[in-house]
Amino acid sequence: MTKRLEITDLVAGHKTRRGVVQAVAGVNLEIAAGETLGLVGESGCGKSSLARAVIGLNTPTSGALSINGDPMDMRRRGNHARDIQMVFQDPYGSLNPRLTVQQLVEEPLTVHRTRSKAERKTFVKALLDRVGIPEAMHDRLPHQLSGGQRQRVGIARALSLEPKILICDEPVSALDVSVQAQVLNLLVELQREQNLSYLFISHDLEVVRYVSHWIAVMYLGRIVEIGPVEEIWSSPLHPYTRALMQTTGNDAMGEGPEVKLNSELPSPLSPPSGCRFRTRCPLAIEKCAQEVPDLQENGKGHQVACHRAKEWSATVSAAA
Ligand SMILES: Nc1ncnc2c1ncn2[C@@H]1O[C@H](COP(=O)(O)OP(=O)(O)O)[C@@H](O)[C@H]1O
Ligand code: SF4
Ligand SMILES: [Mg+2]
Repeated sequence: MTKRLEITDLVAGHKTRRGVVQAVAGVNLEIAAGETLGLVGESGCGKSSLARAVIGLNTPTSGALSINGDPMDMRRRGNHARDIQMVFQDPYGSLNPRLTVQQLVEEPLTVHRTRSKAERKTFVKALLDRVGIPEAMHDRLPHQLSGGQRQRVGIARALSLEPKILICDEPVSALDVSVQAQVLNLLVELQREQNLSYLFISHDLEVVRYVSHWIAVMYLGRIVEIGPVEEIWSSPLHPYTRALMQTTGNDAMGEGPEVKLNSELPSPLSPPSGCRFRTRCPLAIEKCAQEVPDLQENGKGHQVACHRAKEWSATVSAAA
C-alpha cells in the first residue's frame, strides 16, 4: 500500500565553524494514512534536524521524500505546504506576537489565497472552536493566552491549510503535565476526524507511547530500532532502546541486557565508527567498531540495528 509519507535515505546537516554536523545520517521512515510514527531519542540525537529537513526549513544534503507516492520537489517546498505542516515545541516563539489569534490562523489561508474573505473568517472561527479556543479569545494576542491555549492556536494554524501530514516536534514538552494530556488528546481526536498522519517527536517515551502506532528510536542521526508501539514497549531489543526504557517505569520488557547511560552523547562532528552507540554500549565487541549494523527484521514489522540483538531476542520476546 502506498504510504502517506515516505522518507528515503535522508541526510541533513548543519554547517558550523568546526565543520559540518551530520545530524541526520541516512534515515528511512514511512507513515501510513491516519497513523502516528513516534520518534524518540535523547536531546541532540537529530530529531529536530530530521523534522526541519522534512518540512523544508533546512535543505537536506541528499535523500528523497514522497507524499502518497508522489516524489516531493525538495527545492520547491512551497508547492507542498498544503500537504505537510509543522507544530512547534514553543508556540510562543513560532507565533507572531503582533497578530491576534484569528489573524494567526487566517494568515496561511491569505498567503495561499484559498477561499473568499467571508469563507475564511467562518472557517477560521470553526477551526478555533474545534481546537477549544472560545470566540471571546479570537481577538487576543499570543501573550494573553496560557501555554496550552497558545499550543491549541499553533495546532489550528498548522491545520488551516487542511494538510494530510503534521510534524509535531515536542508539541507538549513546554507545557505543564496537567495540560499535556489535554493537548495530546486533542491531537488524537483531530487525527481520527481528519485521517491525519503524524510524525510525533518527543524525548519522552511515555508521551510517545500514548499517541503512536509505531515507534522509531534515533541515535546520533540514525534509526536504531523501529516497530509497532506495543512490540517496542514489550520487547525492546537495541541496547540503546533498553537504556531509554529503563528510565521510564517500563516493567514489561522481557529478559535481556540491562544498559545504563552514564556518559554523554558523543559529538556528531566525529561519530564513532561502526555502530554509533558502541562508545556507550556495555555489550560492544570488536565487530561493532568495524561494521555499521543495518536494520534487520525481527518479525512483526520490528527492525533493529545491532550486531548482537539475535543473542537476546528470544528471551526478550518470550516475555511479551
Ligand atoms: N542550527 C544548528 N547549527 C549547528 N548545529 C546544530 C543546529 N541545530 C542542531 N545542531 C546540532 O545537530 C545535532 C542534532 O540536534 P537536534 O536535531 O536539535 O537534536 P534533537 O532535536 O534530537 O535534540 C546536535 O549535535 C546539535 O547540536
Ligand atoms: S552493534 Fe554492538 S555496540 Fe552497537 S548496540 Fe549492538 S552490541 Fe552495542
Ligand atoms: Mg529537538
